[in-house]
Amino acid sequence: MSNARRGFFISFEGGDGAGKSSQITRLAEHLRAQGETVTLTREPGGSAGAEAIRKLLVEGAADRWGAMSEALLMYAARADHLDRVIKPALARGEIVISDRFADSTMAYQGIAGGLGDDAAARLSDLVVGAHQPDITLILDVPPKVGLARAGGRGDAENRFESKGEDYQEKVRQAFLKIASENATRCVVIDASADIEKVFSCVRRAVEMAIRAAR
Ligand code: TYD
Repeated sequence: MSNARRGFFISFEGGDGAGKSSQITRLAEHLRAQGETVTLTREPGGSAGAEAIRKLLVEGAADRWGAMSEALLMYAARADHLDRVIKPALARGEIVISDRFADSTMAYQGIAGGLGDDAAARLSDLVVGAHQPDITLILDVPPKVGLARAGGRGDAENRFESKGEDYQEKVRQAFLKIASENATRCVVIDASADIEKVFSCVRRAVEMAIRAAR
């Protein structure tokens, strides 16, 4: 794979504690070993302004924001992140890997949070437009397993975990619905399997998609 090729945009999605971060780290190492330049980023956040907005979203009481305010804050952060980090990296021909992207707003605020999928889709059209990921890996795990993993982190950023297991189950079903409606872009991976097995599915899916795109 040479650097003259076009950029390639990968997003990872899934419920809390699905193991995205270890898969993302491995994938970045793997792609860099093949000579790719990789920009690793995350949402909410990924740019200075978006990281400032992130603090408003992931800390504090579960009912701090309603679904609409939450979605607009997510999209304020995403607009900045896209303009300042994602689009420039893709224009340089890099591979961008984002820990979460617009499907999270559709799942967490649009479907599970009650905002409605139509409103979430309109925000996505407005802000993301044609800049959807080339491939989205949805790491699927039962909420009980995910929350046990996420709870082990013991950090202050637990506002979404604190919304409870019913909410997380709705999020899980929402991601499966998004995957079935966007079958050419999304790949669902069983993330309750061990790390090696999950990674071999991730690697295979990404390599196929890159080969097809470049
Ligand atoms: P993240 O840092 O990815 O947490 P985790 O490691 O638990 O996946 O994201 C923080 C939380 O923000 C996560 O619980 C999901 C939520 N979120 C939304 O509700 N909507 C969004 O659009 C995004 C990007 C994240």
